[in-house]
Amino acid sequence: MGQMSTVDESAPTVLVTGGTRGIGAGIARGFLRAGARVLVCGRTEPAELPCAAGRTALFTRADIRNPEQAAGTVRRSIDLFHRLDVVVSNAGGSPYAAAATASPRFHAKVIELNLIAPLHIAQAANAVMQDQGSGSIIMVGSVSGARPSPGTAAYGAAKAGLQHLVTSLAIEWGPAVRINCVVPGFVATESVAEQYGDPATVAAVAATVPLRRLATPDDVAQACLFLASPGSSYISGACLTVHGGGEPPAFLSAGVRSKLIEHVLL
Ligand SMILES: NC(=O)c1ccc[n+]([C@@H]2O[C@H](COP(=O)([O-])OP(=O)(O)OC[C@H]3O[C@@H](n4cnc5c(N)ncnc54)[C@H](OP(=O)(O)O)[C@@H]3O)[C@@H](O)[C@H]2O)c1
Repeated sequence: MGQMSTVDESAPTVLVTGGTRGIGAGIARGFLRAGARVLVCGRTEPAELPCAAGRTALFTRADIRNPEQAAGTVRRSIDLFHRLDVVVSNAGGSPYAAAATASPRFHAKVIELNLIAPLHIAQAANAVMQDQGSGSIIMVGSVSGARPSPGTAAYGAAKAGLQHLVTSLAIEWGPAVRINCVVPGFVATESVAEQYGDPATVAAVAATVPLRRLATPDDVAQACLFLASPGSSYISGACLTVHGGGEPPAFLSAGVRSKLIEHVLL
């Protein structure tokens, strides 16, 4: 388990699910840099825990698809920090599978991880935050939940569910608790090759993005920091897209040319 080099009892406290690698580790580092105390969870303890600004995140082992273990991560935060200011529900993902042939168990597991588990964590966090009188819960969604998601259909549906979930929970849990969703596009993590292919393919994907690059984990962290900050105190039930301008409509690559399109895009 990692140790924080300095313990500031007044520093905000943050739980990042799946904060052991990838985007979650970037989010954990972002909050550490901002001075927070951070707990991350995952099924496997990583060789190196996220660290920044001389602080290291703490780790608790949990499979968040198990409701008891999901709630246990929130209890662990309270045991360690005595309060919980921010939860970033980041753990998620899905292997590729054809919807026509994927097993019922596969579909159920994907929806459990990407929709049901974040709801369990949010429910446990809300109970603590209502008692405290404040808190910010941030779901990590995906553009796959906002457009078709072939190859990861159940994942896309679960991520779409997260975007809807925050709209309902914001109404049920305000004014003490704010809940929002960050919606990343393509993100370059250490698994970028696994997710998007070889460097040439990654470069080709980046070329389709209006800002001409993939997001970094820190881009997603910055959005989370904003949604956790007083600067977003009137924002709840919202989705903040972090996709570099988004994916151009497919019809534009079908050879459609009009004077207007040429004027605007070429
Ligand atoms: N990468 C992208 O381009 C991209 C784009 C849009 C949205 N997103 C979303 O961003 C989030 C992070 O993605 P990523 O690419 O950083 O993923 P990743 O590199 O695969 O990391 C996933 C993290 O979640 C943890 N995790 C997975 N299953 C878990 C479980 N059942 N219980 C507890 N922890 C679990 C993993 O740790 P263990 O394996 O040890 O459990 C790991 O810490 C996901 O919600 C994903 O859907 C990613």
